[in-house]
Amino acid sequence: MANSKKPGGLREMLESMYSVIALLFILVACVELCDAAAAVDVYRLIQYDMSGSPFGSRFAALNHHAASLHFPPGVDLSRTVLIIPLRELNITFVREYINQKNPLGGLLVLLPEVLSFKTGGNKQVHEKEKMKNLLAELERLLVHSNIPYPVYFAFENDEIDTVLADIKKNDLMGQPATATTGGYKFVIPTTEPKKVASPTMTNIQGWLSGLKTDGDANQLPTIAIVASYDTFGAAPALSVGSNSNGSGIVALLEIARLFSLLYSNPKTRGRYNLLFGLTSGGPYNYNGTQKWLRSFDQRLRESIDYAICLNSIGSWDNELWIHVSKPPENAYIKQIFEVSW
Ligand SMILES: *[C@@H]1O[C@H](CO)[C@@H](O)[C@H](O)[C@H]1NC(C)=O
Ligand SMILES: *[C@@H]1O[C@H](CO)[C@@H](O)[C@H](O)[C@H]1NC(C)=O
Ligand SMILES: *[C@@H]1O[C@H](CO)[C@@H](O)[C@H](O)[C@H]1NC(C)=O
Repeated sequence: MANSKKPGGLREMLESMYSVIALLFILVACVELCDAAAAVDVYRLIQYDMSGSPFGSRFAALNHHAASLHFPPGVDLSRTVLIIPLRELNITFVREYINQKNPLGGLLVLLPEVLSFKTGGNKQVHEKEKMKNLLAELERLLVHSNIPYPVYFAFENDEIDTVLADIKKNDLMGQPATATTGGYKFVIPTTEPKKVASPTMTNIQGWLSGLKTDGDANQLPTIAIVASYDTFGAAPALSVGSNSNGSGIVALLEIARLFSLLYSNPKTRGRYNLLFGLTSGGPYNYNGTQKWLRSFDQRLRESIDYAICLNSIGSWDNELWIHVSKPPENAYIKQIFEVSW
């Protein structure tokens, strides 16, 4: 164990939260030339404020023609939706495009099926790792930018791949889609997102009473074990958050399971109450935790001897980090803090 150096990770203090209606649908219409239309699920890029500055994208509605990366040079893309499969994404190009504030009607990033929740197994591990790293880089770029057009993510499937192949073919022939030439149009008929006035924060708590003996006049001391259960990502509905903060939750639930077994027998029931808390709103300035702490009555609050927050404990390497707000005074806790291996 080491002292308070923070592991890497995305730490955001969000001042305000917006509705992130994640599941919309996109109409792929083969305009004029045929009357085909298809729908796929799409996930919108997050939007939020930090220190008064907007990040992500505030835009949602889309009604533009589609183009692939094979668009002819010099063409005006201000009324075009670029559709880019992650497999073909050149992060340098996207970074430059965003930083130079080049006009664009919209961006649709196609995620390979290998990244979807459905695909398990060990096949394509290498491909998966590569895509995950690229996606992480794209995510960092998008959540730290203020993008003046809608950005969506969708998973590849046969339908969208066929459409993409068609779009590429047209682009290579130098026939960018326009109202006169036809081609595909992406449509997301939605109203612009509104700020959520007061987001609902739901906390979950559990309690195991310690063993009180006749001599205990006062309430037993309490140990609080807490984890933050929500997560943050470029597309909220797609963020799985295995370490942010799934790992803490798994540990908390397992600790609760083991101690409830121990506490079910007076011989192994500790003389501490155990309070378990899964709190929400972590990236929202720990708003859920704040609300949870406020809900305690004074007696409980005063009985808390020690609180441990389990966050981001699944790491790439074998290191486990412990942070303390002040040098521990309690002898046992001092012992934990000083152990190193
Ligand atoms: C990626 O984009 C950059 C900037 O547009 C370009 O210079 C570079 O050649 C591209 N890389 C590939 C592999 O296409
Ligand atoms: C886990 O959640 C906490 C609270 O929201 C946050 O501070 C921490 O950065 C998260 N971990 C990661 C790896 O993002
Ligand atoms: C947390 O929520 C409360 C009420 O829901 C609000 O008054 C407060 O400003 C919020 N705090 C932060 C830091 O967002």
